[in-house]
Amino acid sequence: EKGRLLFAGPVTFVKGVVAMAGLPPPDRVEVCFAGRSNVGKSSLINALTGRKTLARASNTPGRTQEINYFALGEDRYLVDLPGYGYAEAPVAVVAKWQALLKQYLAGRVTLRRAFVLIDMRHGIKAVDHEILKLLDRSAVTFQVVLTKADKVNKATREATIAQVQGALAAHPAAYPEIVVTSSEKGEGVETLRAIIATLE
Ligand code: GTP
Ligand code: MG
Repeated sequence: EKGRLLFAGPVTFVKGVVAMAGLPPPDRVEVCFAGRSNVGKSSLINALTGRKTLARASNTPGRTQEINYFALGEDRYLVDLPGYGYAEAPVAVVAKWQALLKQYLAGRVTLRRAFVLIDMRHGIKAVDHEILKLLDRSAVTFQVVLTKADKVNKATREATIAQVQGALAAHPAAYPEIVVTSSEKGEGVETLRAIIATLE
C-alpha cells in the first residue's frame, strides 16, 4: 500500500515561484508545508506522493529556496515552502524568503491548511512561534506535524508532544490534532493523506 494516493491522476511538479506574481491561478484547493530548514518538508511531500525524488530533499539546510508547486491530478496543490531559521543563509536572502512567505501565508485565498512541521527531536523553537503568530493573524487553519519520529525514543516523543500541545494553547487558530510522522518509516503518512484528501 506504500505510495497509494487518495487522489486521481498523476503527481507532477508545476513550478517554482519566487514572487507572488508567479503563483498559479487560485483555482483549486492547496495545502502548504512550512517549517524550519531541514525539518523534513520535502521528504514528507515525497512520502505523501510515494515519489522518492519529486521534491528535492537534502542534508544541506536551505535546499528549497522557492515556493514549489506540485499538482495532485487536476484536483489540488501541495506546496513546498522554503525553510526558515537557517542561520548560515545571507541576510538579504533570508529577508527575501521571509517577505515572500509572509505574503503567501497571509494572502493566498485557496490555501486551505498550512502544515507547520516541527522536528520531533527539537520541539517548538522561537522561530516557529514567529510563524505561528503570523498564521494566527492570517485566515488560514494551521496544523502541527511532528517529523522524524523514527529518530526519537518514547520518552522524547511524549515530551515533545506535550511541549507542542502546551505551546498551541496560545494559538487558538491551530487545528487541535497533532500528526506524528516519519517520512523514513511511513508513520502518519496515511493520516496526513486522508486529511489532505478531505479538505474542501
Ligand atoms: P529545506 O528545504 O532546507 O527547508 O529542508 P526540508 O525541510 O525540505 O528538509 P528535507 O526534506 O530536505 O530533509 C532534511 C534531512 O532530513 C534530509 O537528510 C532527510 O533525509 C532527513 N529526513 C527528513 N525526514 C526524515 C524522517 O522522517 N526520518 C529521518 N530519519 N530523516 C528524515
Ligand atoms: Mg526542502
